[in-house]
Amino acid sequence: MNVKIRVPATIANLGPGFDVFGAALSLYNEFEAEYVTDAKETHFILNGEGKELLEKKDKNLVWQAMQKTFELLSEDKYNLKNLNITINTNIPLSRGLGSSASAIVGGICLANALCKNKLNRRQIADLAIKIEGHPDNVVPAVYGGLCICGKNEYGDTGILTQLPIPKLKVVLCIPFFELRTKYLREILPTTVSLDDAVFNISRVAILTTAFCCGDYALLRQAMQDKIHQPYRKKMIPAMDKVLEKTLSAGAYGAFLSGSGPTLAALCDKKNVVNIQKSMISTWKEENVFARSCILDFDSEGVLEI
Ligand code: HSE
Repeated sequence: MNVKIRVPATIANLGPGFDVFGAALSLYNEFEAEYVTDAKETHFILNGEGKELLEKKDKNLVWQAMQKTFELLSEDKYNLKNLNITINTNIPLSRGLGSSASAIVGGICLANALCKNKLNRRQIADLAIKIEGHPDNVVPAVYGGLCICGKNEYGDTGILTQLPIPKLKVVLCIPFFELRTKYLREILPTTVSLDDAVFNISRVAILTTAFCCGDYALLRQAMQDKIHQPYRKKMIPAMDKVLEKTLSAGAYGAFLSGSGPTLAALCDKKNVVNIQKSMISTWKEENVFARSCILDFDSEGVLEI
């Protein structure tokens, strides 16, 4: 038996929606599992972006997610060692583009497909959130589109809704350096002031209005944030300058993608080249070398292909 799964990259937070807003993009990792009858142990074949950084065996996130899925489904007979697992990565690692979420969702869906797809999307999302810890990358990776999500008191998906997919392009500017989400969460304060909380609540409300009404002119203000970006920007040279120049170059809104260090802009197709050039050259002035890509929103989420 052979199964192949495709999982999209994601941008999370979208400015003020910390751990709540996330969207899937048209950039994909692919995961494949194949039973090999005469093999004695699981064999990993790693290809693509950052393959040398991926763990093998029990430390591999895809394999860990597969094990957890087998446990949940009590499918011991599938929990065998004679698999070939192929991972083809296109999503850059440790750049705030949901590469871990993609590995977790990919692993769960591989195991689920080997177990005759007993888990539905909601159950896949619940398990992925439990493994990842926060929902805003895994939920859009599972469902596609632009998602609003929050955990319930049991740590499950809880509330989940999808907004209309924006008729906009996404320009990413991906710096050469990596930053770990774990560290970028540890540097955040554990409490926020009432003023900052109210500031973010107002921006999230405007953000939702902007997407629901297609009123993208609101995004510039709606993507302001006081909860995570002000702390994380200390780790990301000239972040404010790049974001400001991106807006001047014609973006509706610009923000730190997930925990970073990638910066993202939402814009009309006619402005993508200007914005791309501006992001790359502004960072270059500060000796930060980056590459850029232009993507669409993905509407499908995880797929068996
Ligand atoms: N919401 C998460 C964070 C996303 O900002 O830490 C991590 O990519």
